[in-house]
Amino acid sequence: MRILVTGANGQVGYELLRALAEKHIPLGPPSQAKGEENHPLPAEERGRAHPLPQEGGRAAGAGGCTPPREIIPATRSGRLEGGTSCEAIDLADFDGLTKALDRIAPDLIINAAAYTAVDRAEDEPELAQRINGDALGVLGAWAKQNDARVVHYSTDYVFDGSATRTYREIDATHPVSVYGRSKLAGEDALRDSGARHLILRTAWVYAARGQNFLRTMLRLGAERDALRVVDDQIGAPTPARLIAEVTARAIAQWSTPPSTGRGGATANARAAPMRSIGGMPTLDGTYHLVASGQTSWCGFARAIFERAQRTGLIERAPVVHAIGTADYPTKATRPAFSVLDTTKLRDAFGIDLPDWQAALDGVIGELALGQ
Ligand SMILES: NC(=O)c1ccc[n+]([C@@H]2O[C@H](COP(=O)([O-])OP(=O)(O)OC[C@H]3O[C@@H](n4cnc5c(N)ncnc54)[C@H](OP(=O)(O)O)[C@@H]3O)[C@@H](O)[C@H]2O)c1
Repeated sequence: MRILVTGANGQVGYELLRALAEKHIPLGPPSQAKGEENHPLPAEERGRAHPLPQEGGRAAGAGGCTPPREIIPATRSGRLEGGTSCEAIDLADFDGLTKALDRIAPDLIINAAAYTAVDRAEDEPELAQRINGDALGVLGAWAKQNDARVVHYSTDYVFDGSATRTYREIDATHPVSVYGRSKLAGEDALRDSGARHLILRTAWVYAARGQNFLRTMLRLGAERDALRVVDDQIGAPTPARLIAEVTARAIAQWSTPPSTGRGGATANARAAPMRSIGGMPTLDGTYHLVASGQTSWCGFARAIFERAQRTGLIERAPVVHAIGTADYPTKATRPAFSVLDTTKLRDAFGIDLPDWQAALDGVIGELALGQ
Protein backbone atom coordinates (compact mmCIF):
# COMPACT_ATOMS: atom_id res chain seq x y z
CA MET A 1 0.00 0.00 0.00
CA ARG A 2 1.63 3.21 -1.18
CA ILE A 3 0.10 6.49 0.00
CA LEU A 4 1.07 9.63 -1.91
CA VAL A 5 0.64 12.93 -0.03
CA THR A 6 0.71 15.98 -2.31
CA GLY A 7 1.24 19.48 -0.91
CA ALA A 8 3.34 18.00 1.90
CA ASN A 9 4.70 21.42 2.92
CA GLY A 10 1.25 22.91 3.39
CA GLN A 11 -0.53 23.15 6.73
CA VAL A 12 -2.57 19.99 6.25
CA GLY A 13 0.08 18.13 4.23
CA TYR A 14 2.71 18.63 6.93
CA GLU A 15 0.37 17.42 9.66
CA LEU A 16 -0.63 14.44 7.53
CA LEU A 17 2.98 13.24 7.44
CA ARG A 18 3.03 13.46 11.21
CA ALA A 19 -0.39 11.83 11.76
CA LEU A 20 0.33 8.97 9.37
CA ALA A 21 3.78 8.43 10.89
CA GLU A 22 2.19 8.22 14.33
CA LYS A 23 0.03 5.43 12.96
CA HIS A 24 3.25 3.48 12.32
CA ILE A 25 3.30 3.84 8.59
CA PRO A 26 6.78 3.93 7.09
CA LEU A 27 7.63 7.04 5.12
CA GLY A 28 8.90 6.34 1.66
CA PRO A 29 11.84 8.07 0.03
CA PRO A 30 11.48 9.90 -3.28
CA SER A 31 11.69 7.74 -6.38
CA GLN A 32 13.60 4.56 -5.72
CA ALA A 33 16.41 6.11 -3.67
CA LYS A 34 16.37 4.50 -0.22
CA GLY A 35 18.94 6.78 1.34
CA GLU A 36 18.65 7.64 5.02
CA GLU A 37 18.86 11.34 4.19
CA ASN A 38 15.66 11.11 2.20
CA HIS A 39 13.42 10.45 5.17
CA PRO A 40 11.32 13.55 5.79
CA LEU A 41 10.87 12.90 9.49
CA PRO A 42 13.48 12.23 12.19
CA ALA A 43 14.17 8.59 13.04
CA GLU A 44 12.07 8.57 16.20
CA GLU A 45 9.00 9.65 14.23
CA ARG A 46 9.31 6.98 11.58
CA GLY A 47 7.11 3.95 11.90
CA ARG A 48 7.86 0.39 11.07
CA ALA A 49 6.02 -1.72 8.57
CA HIS A 50 2.86 -2.10 10.64
CA PRO A 51 -0.59 -1.87 9.14
CA LEU A 52 -2.83 0.88 10.42
CA PRO A 53 -4.36 -0.09 13.76
CA GLN A 54 -8.05 -0.89 13.41
CA GLU A 55 -11.06 -0.56 15.64
CA GLY A 56 -11.72 -3.94 17.20
CA GLY A 57 -8.10 -5.02 16.88
CA ARG A 58 -8.25 -6.13 13.28
CA ALA A 59 -5.64 -5.27 10.72
CA ALA A 60 -6.82 -3.18 7.78
CA GLY A 61 -8.07 -4.83 4.64
CA ALA A 62 -9.92 -7.97 3.70
CA GLY A 63 -8.91 -11.05 5.63
CA GLY A 64 -7.31 -8.97 8.39
CA CYS A 65 -3.87 -8.97 6.80
CA THR A 66 -2.56 -6.12 4.68
CA PRO A 67 0.86 -5.42 3.23
CA PRO A 68 2.96 -2.71 4.88
CA ARG A 69 2.06 0.85 3.99
CA GLU A 70 4.43 3.50 2.79
CA ILE A 71 3.97 7.27 2.74
CA ILE A 72 5.37 9.16 -0.26
CA PRO A 73 5.45 12.93 0.32
CA ALA A 74 5.40 15.27 -2.68
CA THR A 75 5.81 19.03 -2.93
CA ARG A 76 5.95 21.40 -5.86
CA SER A 77 9.69 21.95 -5.42
CA GLY A 78 10.68 18.35 -4.65
CA ARG A 79 11.95 19.50 -1.25
CA LEU A 80 10.32 19.26 2.13
CA GLU A 81 10.59 22.09 4.61
CA GLY A 82 14.08 21.73 6.03
CA GLY A 83 15.55 20.70 2.70
CA THR A 84 14.94 16.96 2.60
CA SER A 85 14.29 15.77 -0.94
CA CYS A 86 10.95 14.21 -1.86
CA GLU A 87 8.83 13.67 -4.97
CA ALA A 88 8.21 16.80 -7.07
CA ILE A 89 4.61 17.25 -8.22
CA ASP A 90 3.18 20.45 -9.70
CA LEU A 91 -0.58 20.12 -10.08
CA ALA A 92 -0.53 22.74 -12.82
CA ASP A 93 1.65 20.47 -14.99
CA PHE A 94 -0.76 17.72 -16.05
CA ASP A 95 1.78 15.81 -18.11
CA GLY A 96 4.28 15.84 -15.25
CA LEU A 97 1.51 14.86 -12.82
CA THR A 98 0.55 11.80 -14.85
CA LYS A 99 4.18 10.76 -15.29
CA ALA A 100 4.80 11.11 -11.56
CA LEU A 101 1.72 9.00 -10.77
CA ASP A 102 2.84 6.33 -13.24
CA ARG A 103 6.28 6.25 -11.62
CA ILE A 104 5.11 6.32 -7.98
CA ALA A 105 2.11 4.03 -8.57
CA PRO A 106 0.24 5.00 -5.39
CA ASP A 107 -2.69 2.96 -4.10
CA LEU A 108 -4.03 6.02 -2.30
CA ILE A 109 -3.51 9.68 -3.17
CA ILE A 110 -4.13 12.27 -0.45
CA ASN A 111 -4.31 15.61 -2.22
CA ALA A 112 -3.44 18.33 0.29
CA ALA A 113 -2.07 20.63 -2.42
CA ALA A 114 -4.18 23.54 -3.56
CA TYR A 115 -4.12 27.12 -4.75
CA THR A 116 -5.23 28.67 -1.44
CA ALA A 117 -4.62 32.40 -2.00
CA VAL A 118 -8.30 33.40 -1.88
CA ASP A 119 -7.85 37.06 -2.83
CA ARG A 120 -5.07 36.52 -5.38
CA ALA A 121 -7.27 33.97 -7.13
CA GLU A 122 -9.53 36.83 -8.24
CA ASP A 123 -6.62 38.00 -10.43
CA GLU A 124 -5.49 34.50 -11.46
CA PRO A 125 -8.73 32.63 -12.16
CA GLU A 126 -7.24 30.37 -14.84
CA LEU A 127 -4.40 29.21 -12.60
CA ALA A 128 -6.76 28.63 -9.65
CA GLN A 129 -9.10 26.65 -11.88
CA ARG A 130 -6.20 24.61 -13.29
CA ILE A 131 -4.75 23.66 -9.88
CA ASN A 132 -7.94 23.36 -7.82
CA GLY A 133 -10.30 22.24 -10.56
CA ASP A 134 -8.88 20.64 -13.70
CA ALA A 135 -6.01 18.84 -11.94
CA LEU A 136 -8.57 16.81 -10.00
CA GLY A 137 -9.89 15.50 -13.29
CA VAL A 138 -6.39 14.33 -14.21
CA LEU A 139 -5.80 12.85 -10.78
CA GLY A 140 -9.22 11.16 -10.73
CA ALA A 141 -8.80 9.72 -14.23
CA TRP A 142 -5.44 8.22 -13.27
CA ALA A 143 -6.90 6.80 -10.04
CA LYS A 144 -9.90 5.30 -11.84
CA GLN A 145 -7.68 3.70 -14.46
CA ASN A 146 -5.23 2.33 -11.91
CA ASP A 147 -7.64 1.25 -9.16
CA ALA A 148 -6.31 3.85 -6.75
CA ARG A 149 -8.34 5.88 -4.26
CA VAL A 150 -8.26 9.63 -3.68
CA VAL A 151 -8.72 11.70 -0.53
CA HIS A 152 -9.25 15.34 -1.44
CA TYR A 153 -9.89 18.48 0.62
CA SER A 154 -12.44 21.11 -0.26
CA THR A 155 -13.83 24.18 1.43
CA ASP A 156 -16.77 25.89 3.13
CA TYR A 157 -16.34 28.54 0.41
CA VAL A 158 -18.34 26.33 -1.99
CA PHE A 159 -21.36 27.82 -0.18
CA ASP A 160 -22.55 31.41 -0.51
CA GLY A 161 -23.11 31.96 3.21
CA SER A 162 -26.78 32.87 3.04
CA ALA A 163 -27.95 29.88 5.12
CA THR A 164 -29.55 30.32 8.50
CA ARG A 165 -28.47 26.88 9.75
CA THR A 166 -25.29 24.84 9.43
CA TYR A 167 -24.55 23.52 5.93
CA ARG A 168 -25.02 19.84 5.19
CA GLU A 169 -23.23 17.93 2.45
CA ILE A 170 -26.41 17.74 0.36
CA ASP A 171 -27.10 21.48 0.48
CA ALA A 172 -26.90 23.41 -2.77
CA THR A 173 -23.50 24.92 -3.48
CA HIS A 174 -23.10 28.44 -4.76
CA PRO A 175 -19.56 29.80 -4.43
CA VAL A 176 -19.15 33.56 -4.44
CA SER A 177 -15.41 33.73 -5.21
CA VAL A 178 -12.99 32.46 -7.86
CA TYR A 179 -11.35 30.26 -5.22
CA GLY A 180 -14.70 28.78 -4.18
CA ARG A 181 -15.67 28.10 -7.79
CA SER A 182 -12.32 26.47 -8.52
CA LYS A 183 -12.62 24.20 -5.48
CA LEU A 184 -16.16 23.22 -6.44
CA ALA A 185 -14.91 22.42 -9.94
CA GLY A 186 -12.31 20.12 -8.34
CA GLU A 187 -14.99 18.31 -6.34
CA ASP A 188 -17.07 17.82 -9.48
CA ALA A 189 -14.10 16.67 -11.56
CA LEU A 190 -13.13 14.08 -8.97
CA ARG A 191 -16.70 12.77 -8.63
CA ASP A 192 -17.13 12.68 -12.41
CA SER A 193 -13.90 10.70 -12.84
CA GLY A 194 -15.53 7.68 -11.23
CA ALA A 195 -12.52 7.14 -8.96
CA ARG A 196 -13.14 5.97 -5.41
CA HIS A 197 -12.83 9.03 -3.24
CA LEU A 198 -13.38 10.89 0.00
CA ILE A 199 -13.92 14.63 -0.36
CA LEU A 200 -13.41 16.32 3.00
CA ARG A 201 -14.70 19.89 3.15
CA THR A 202 -12.99 21.89 5.84
CA ALA A 203 -12.73 25.57 6.84
CA TRP A 204 -10.72 28.31 8.53
CA VAL A 205 -7.60 26.13 8.69
CA TYR A 206 -4.74 27.13 10.98
CA ALA A 207 -1.72 25.57 12.64
CA ALA A 208 1.31 26.35 14.76
CA ARG A 209 3.26 26.75 11.50
CA GLY A 210 2.51 28.03 8.01
CA GLN A 211 0.55 31.06 6.87
CA ASN A 212 -2.70 31.42 8.73
CA PHE A 213 -4.91 33.71 10.78
CA LEU A 214 -3.55 32.60 14.16
CA ARG A 215 0.05 33.36 13.23
CA THR A 216 -0.92 36.64 11.58
CA MET A 217 -2.78 37.70 14.75
CA LEU A 218 0.16 36.84 17.00
CA ARG A 219 2.55 38.77 14.73
CA LEU A 220 0.30 41.84 14.48
CA GLY A 221 -0.54 41.67 18.18
CA ALA A 222 3.15 41.91 19.02
CA GLU A 223 3.47 45.03 16.87
CA ARG A 224 0.28 46.95 17.78
CA ASP A 225 -1.78 47.93 20.81
CA ALA A 226 -5.10 47.50 19.03
CA LEU A 227 -6.44 45.48 16.10
CA ARG A 228 -9.67 45.73 14.10
CA VAL A 229 -11.07 42.33 13.16
CA VAL A 230 -14.16 41.35 11.17
CA ASP A 231 -17.03 40.22 13.39
CA ASP A 232 -19.77 39.42 10.87
CA GLN A 233 -18.28 36.38 9.15
CA ILE A 234 -19.08 33.20 11.07
CA GLY A 235 -17.24 29.90 10.73
CA ALA A 236 -15.41 27.15 12.59
CA PRO A 237 -11.64 27.54 13.07
CA THR A 238 -10.12 24.12 12.45
CA PRO A 239 -6.53 23.05 13.21
CA ALA A 240 -4.64 21.31 10.41
CA ARG A 241 -3.57 18.67 12.92
CA LEU A 242 -7.19 17.79 13.66
CA ILE A 243 -7.88 17.48 9.93
CA ALA A 244 -4.87 15.21 9.51
CA GLU A 245 -5.71 13.00 12.48
CA VAL A 246 -9.31 12.59 11.37
CA THR A 247 -8.12 11.82 7.84
CA ALA A 248 -5.78 9.10 9.15
CA ARG A 249 -8.62 7.52 11.13
CA ALA A 250 -11.06 7.79 8.25
CA ILE A 251 -8.59 6.15 5.87
CA ALA A 252 -8.10 3.26 8.28
CA GLN A 253 -11.84 2.65 8.40
CA TRP A 254 -12.32 3.28 4.68
CA SER A 255 -9.82 0.45 4.01
CA THR A 256 -11.98 -2.04 5.88
CA PRO A 257 -14.72 -3.58 3.73
CA PRO A 258 -17.90 -2.64 5.66
CA SER A 259 -19.54 -5.98 5.01
CA THR A 260 -16.78 -7.96 6.73
CA GLY A 261 -15.48 -5.59 9.39
CA ARG A 262 -16.25 -6.26 13.04
CA GLY A 263 -14.98 -2.95 14.29
CA GLY A 264 -16.23 0.59 14.67
CA ALA A 265 -16.30 1.34 10.98
CA THR A 266 -18.99 -1.19 10.29
CA ALA A 267 -20.97 -0.42 13.38
CA ASN A 268 -20.86 3.30 12.75
CA ALA A 269 -21.40 3.03 9.04
CA ARG A 270 -24.71 1.28 9.66
CA ALA A 271 -26.08 4.54 10.98
CA ALA A 272 -24.91 6.55 7.99
CA PRO A 273 -26.50 6.76 4.58
CA MET A 274 -24.13 4.59 2.55
CA ARG A 275 -23.51 4.49 -1.16
CA SER A 276 -22.78 1.20 -2.82
CA ILE A 277 -20.22 0.27 -5.44
CA GLY A 278 -20.75 -3.02 -7.25
CA GLY A 279 -23.41 -3.94 -4.71
CA MET A 280 -21.01 -3.40 -1.79
CA PRO A 281 -21.69 -0.63 0.73
CA THR A 282 -18.98 2.01 0.73
CA LEU A 283 -17.99 5.00 2.79
CA ASP A 284 -16.98 6.89 -0.38
CA GLY A 285 -18.39 10.39 -0.72
CA THR A 286 -18.30 13.96 0.54
CA TYR A 287 -18.01 14.83 4.22
CA HIS A 288 -17.74 17.99 6.31
CA LEU A 289 -14.72 18.05 8.62
CA VAL A 290 -14.50 21.06 10.93
CA ALA A 291 -14.20 21.65 14.65
CA SER A 292 -17.51 21.94 16.50
CA GLY A 293 -19.14 25.23 17.41
CA GLN A 294 -18.80 28.55 15.65
CA THR A 295 -17.35 32.01 16.05
CA SER A 296 -16.40 35.11 14.07
CA TRP A 297 -12.88 36.11 13.05
CA CYS A 298 -13.05 38.67 15.86
CA GLY A 299 -14.12 36.01 18.38
CA PHE A 300 -11.31 33.79 17.14
CA ALA A 301 -8.77 36.61 17.52
CA ARG A 302 -9.87 37.39 21.07
CA ALA A 303 -9.70 33.69 21.99
CA ILE A 304 -6.19 33.45 20.53
CA PHE A 305 -4.90 36.41 22.56
CA GLU A 306 -6.62 35.30 25.76
CA ARG A 307 -5.03 31.86 25.56
CA ALA A 308 -1.67 33.15 24.35
CA GLN A 309 -1.45 35.45 27.34
CA ARG A 310 -2.65 32.80 29.79
CA THR A 311 -0.03 30.32 28.64
CA GLY A 312 2.77 32.90 28.68
CA LEU A 313 3.18 32.89 24.91
CA ILE A 314 2.70 36.69 24.90
CA GLU A 315 3.08 39.18 27.72
CA ARG A 316 0.49 41.67 26.59
CA ALA A 317 -2.67 41.19 24.52
CA PRO A 318 -3.81 43.94 22.14
CA VAL A 319 -7.33 45.32 22.28
CA VAL A 320 -9.42 43.67 19.55
CA HIS A 321 -12.10 45.93 18.06
CA ALA A 322 -15.00 44.33 16.17
CA ILE A 323 -15.58 45.69 12.67
CA GLY A 324 -17.88 44.75 9.82
CA THR A 325 -16.92 43.15 6.51
CA ALA A 326 -17.76 46.47 4.84
CA ASP A 327 -15.00 48.12 6.93
CA TYR A 328 -12.39 45.67 5.66
CA PRO A 329 -12.87 45.28 1.90
CA THR A 330 -11.09 42.37 0.24
CA LYS A 331 -10.79 41.36 -3.41
CA ALA A 332 -12.69 38.12 -2.90
CA THR A 333 -16.17 37.97 -1.41
CA ARG A 334 -16.39 35.59 1.53
CA PRO A 335 -19.50 33.84 2.84
CA ALA A 336 -21.00 35.59 5.88
CA PHE A 337 -21.95 32.26 7.45
CA SER A 338 -20.20 29.02 6.53
CA VAL A 339 -20.52 26.68 9.49
CA LEU A 340 -20.54 23.06 8.31
CA ASP A 341 -22.67 20.28 9.81
CA THR A 342 -20.44 17.29 10.60
CA THR A 343 -23.15 14.77 11.50
CA LYS A 344 -22.45 12.64 8.42
CA LEU A 345 -18.74 12.23 9.28
CA ARG A 346 -19.58 11.37 12.88
CA ASP A 347 -22.18 8.79 11.89
CA ALA A 348 -20.10 7.18 9.15
CA PHE A 349 -16.73 7.02 10.91
CA GLY A 350 -17.65 7.33 14.58
CA ILE A 351 -15.46 10.39 14.96
CA ASP A 352 -16.45 13.12 17.43
CA LEU A 353 -14.95 16.50 16.62
CA PRO A 354 -13.79 18.75 19.47
CA ASP A 355 -15.11 22.23 20.06
CA TRP A 356 -13.06 24.89 18.24
CA GLN A 357 -11.98 26.41 21.57
CA ALA A 358 -10.61 23.11 22.91
CA ALA A 359 -8.89 22.59 19.57
CA LEU A 360 -7.36 26.07 19.85
CA ASP A 361 -6.06 25.21 23.34
CA GLY A 362 -4.11 22.37 21.72
CA VAL A 363 -2.45 24.55 19.09
CA ILE A 364 -1.62 27.35 21.55
CA GLY A 365 -0.22 24.71 23.90
CA GLU A 366 1.90 23.37 21.06
CA LEU A 367 3.22 26.88 20.37
CA ALA A 368 3.84 27.55 24.05
CA LEU A 369 5.86 24.36 24.32
CA GLY A 370 7.88 25.52 21.32
CA GLN A 371 7.17 22.33 19.41
N1 LIG B 1 -6.37 27.26 4.55
C1 LIG B 1 -7.68 27.28 4.76
O1 LIG B 1 -8.18 28.10 5.53
C2 LIG B 1 -8.58 26.28 4.08
C3 LIG B 1 -9.96 26.39 4.27
C4 LIG B 1 -10.79 25.46 3.66
C5 LIG B 1 -10.26 24.45 2.89
N2 LIG B 1 -8.92 24.38 2.71
C6 LIG B 1 -8.41 23.33 1.85
O2 LIG B 1 -7.62 22.46 2.63
C7 LIG B 1 -6.55 21.94 1.82
C8 LIG B 1 -5.22 22.16 2.51
O3 LIG B 1 -5.06 23.56 2.69
P1 LIG B 1 -3.84 24.16 3.54
O4 LIG B 1 -4.42 25.14 4.48
O5 LIG B 1 -2.98 23.08 4.03
O6 LIG B 1 -3.12 24.96 2.37
P2 LIG B 1 -1.66 25.59 2.34
O7 LIG B 1 -1.08 25.60 3.70
O8 LIG B 1 -1.77 26.84 1.56
O9 LIG B 1 -0.87 24.51 1.51
C9 LIG B 1 -1.16 24.28 0.18
C10 LIG B 1 0.04 23.59 -0.43
O10 LIG B 1 -0.27 23.37 -1.80
C11 LIG B 1 0.92 23.61 -2.51
N3 LIG B 1 0.66 24.00 -3.88
C12 LIG B 1 0.15 25.16 -4.35
N4 LIG B 1 0.10 25.13 -5.70
C13 LIG B 1 0.58 23.91 -6.06
C14 LIG B 1 0.79 23.27 -7.29
N5 LIG B 1 0.53 23.88 -8.46
N6 LIG B 1 1.31 22.02 -7.31
C15 LIG B 1 1.61 21.40 -6.16
N7 LIG B 1 1.45 21.95 -4.96
C16 LIG B 1 0.93 23.19 -4.90
C17 LIG B 1 1.61 24.73 -1.79
O11 LIG B 1 2.97 24.65 -2.12
P3 LIG B 1 3.91 25.93 -2.21
O12 LIG B 1 4.37 26.11 -0.80
O13 LIG B 1 4.96 25.51 -3.16
O14 LIG B 1 3.06 27.06 -2.72
C18 LIG B 1 1.32 24.41 -0.35
O15 LIG B 1 2.32 23.64 0.23
C19 LIG B 1 -6.68 22.62 0.46
O16 LIG B 1 -7.40 21.79 -0.41
C20 LIG B 1 -7.49 23.85 0.75
O17 LIG B 1 -8.22 24.29 -0.39
C21 LIG B 1 -8.07 25.26 3.30
